[in-house]
Amino acid sequence: MVPAAGLAAALASGVLAAPSAPGDLAGFVAAIYKRGVPFIQVPTTLLAQIDSAIGGKTAVDLKTGKNLVGVFYQPKLVFADTKTLSSLSVRQIRNGLSEAIKYGVIDDPKLFDYIEAHHEEFLKGEDKVLNFIVGRCAKIKADIVAADEKETKGLRTILNFGHTVGHAVEAASPGYKYHHGEAVGLGMRVAARISVNRNLLSAKDEARINQLITSVGLPEQIKGVKLSKILDLMQHDKKFVAGHNRFVLAHRIGKVSVISDIPLSIITKAIKAYSA
Ligand SMILES: NC(=O)c1ccc[n+]([C@@H]2O[C@H](COP(=O)([O-])OP(=O)(O)OC[C@H]3O[C@@H](n4cnc5c(N)ncnc54)[C@H](O)[C@@H]3O)[C@@H](O)[C@H]2O)c1
Ligand SMILES: [Zn+2]
Repeated sequence: MVPAAGLAAALASGVLAAPSAPGDLAGFVAAIYKRGVPFIQVPTTLLAQIDSAIGGKTAVDLKTGKNLVGVFYQPKLVFADTKTLSSLSVRQIRNGLSEAIKYGVIDDPKLFDYIEAHHEEFLKGEDKVLNFIVGRCAKIKADIVAADEKETKGLRTILNFGHTVGHAVEAASPGYKYHHGEAVGLGMRVAARISVNRNLLSAKDEARINQLITSVGLPEQIKGVKLSKILDLMQHDKKFVAGHNRFVLAHRIGKVSVISDIPLSIITKAIKAYSA
């Protein structure tokens, strides 16, 4: 075994709570092995092609939460071939579509319209639709990262729409039952609910967001996860600083902003609205 692979295996065995995403783990190993060696990302899942392989966030998970040890470290190249997606399970495709819906909500109403109109062809693997959605999402991610590579200007934060509650649901579900995109889908429902409660988002746009998440076959309710555990894990989120919380909330499809200090009662009520 080559030393870098040995390091990856050691990181993946003892200290981790769950298998870290392979791309995140490989990037982290490349960043720390010999204080950094060049690497490329060759993502083969939809989620990785449109999100995790782009942007240079590398990390491993600890027992206390996801991505707790990591660094920013950019790959020299991201090589994504949509042909690899043909062998993915439908569940994995849906998992990635959750992040595609996110891009529509945070940045691109036309992309949102396109996914509404073409998600069935996408799920059937039609090349034209795959290439358009993967290409568009990858471009949105790359542009946002280029504007705020190390997340110091507040711009990159919008990529976390649905992730504050989503990460907590993912980590709180026994055995990481929910995949990342499934948990983010639930988190986007909660974020949309809070947005309506704060008079930012119309009920009509909330309904469209919920409908699209449902149409692609993502979960409608948080099941088998304790509310207290979700709330507890959320306190560890990096957007919760010194008792103050920050949520990415939607104003309309295509426009979001970061809002501070949402009352805990409102957050709890929104999570309960989607809990079985
Ligand atoms: N670094 C970031 O910026 C970032 C962003 C979003 C998500 N993430 C992380 O990414 C992780 C999820 O990544 P993922 O969905 O790529 O998971 P994954 O790489 O674990 O893949 C999911 C499953 O699909 C299988 N698989 C991969 N490619 C395949 C193919 N072409 N055909 C058939 N099967 C295939 C894998 O073996 C695995 O069983 C989460 O842990 C999430 O937190 C990181
Ligand atoms: Zn994500």
